[in-house]
Amino acid sequence: MINAQTKICCLIGNPVAHSLSPPIHNAAYQKLGINYVYLAFRITDLAKAITGIREFGIKGISVTIPYKEKILKYLDDLDPLARKIGAVNTVVNHSGFLKGYNTDCWGAIKALKEKTKLYRKKVAILGAGGACRAIASGLKEEGAKIILINRSIEKAKKLAKEFLLDDYFPLERIDMIKKAEIIINATSVGTLSNESLINKEMLESKQIVFDIVYNPKETKLIKEAKASGCRVVYGYKMLLYQAVYQFKLFTGRKAPVELMEKTLLNSF
Ligand code: ATR
Repeated sequence: MINAQTKICCLIGNPVAHSLSPPIHNAAYQKLGINYVYLAFRITDLAKAITGIREFGIKGISVTIPYKEKILKYLDDLDPLARKIGAVNTVVNHSGFLKGYNTDCWGAIKALKEKTKLYRKKVAILGAGGACRAIASGLKEEGAKIILINRSIEKAKKLAKEFLLDDYFPLERIDMIKKAEIIINATSVGTLSNESLINKEMLESKQIVFDIVYNPKETKLIKEAKASGCRVVYGYKMLLYQAVYQFKLFTGRKAPVELMEKTLLNSF
């Protein structure tokens, strides 16, 4: 029941209309019987949105495209991991003091760890954007050996140097994935389309394939990886686990993971 004590959490971004975060978080609040509500706001002026968040006392904020990096300068403090990654997808309002976190990193690592150990594993990541920064930083902490493959070689070079990765290549050298034990698509390719940067002939059954794209759930890459006998990590798992960590940060309570997963899968 919403009343004068209800705590508000929200997503800010643009676009947000098709976000799956409101159903996941609201289902979890209901399950635990806590007086919270989660809304989605499409915003165009980030500075004004931050003023509103402070004034309305909004408790927790999920941040999505295109504000994950832009929001940093408006925050009062950053968790060390978010500072290192240079991107924030979660903000907690501690009585007017806004602290930024990055739960995308934790979400990706948890999703991968369900399928494999990461220490000393050879990983090839496609991409060099914000999502890639979060994943590469987490994998590095886990002791994986990481190569990057990206369309813009300069971006790959910068990221590889910053995070002390093993090597980097342009997209023309995508055949380098053959040497990897784990292949991660951290680009947006495959979102709402039947495209994949990876030719299925490049995949081998002993490899693990993680596609961060979750819309559609079965991307072309995931379908081809399964057909090649690879184990796969679905993009929705990263979405789920970043929300699970966010829930804990927003409410201080342990998230009902199974319910959140069920809600997420029913929302596709
Ligand atoms: P995010 O924050 O979600 O990672 P991003 O910072 O825009 O989003 O990064 C998107 C990534 O997908 C980039 O690595 C981008 O490659 P460039 O660095 O060359 O721009 C990659 N990407 C997007 N569309 C692509 C395409 N059609 N082919 C190859 N790479 C693509």
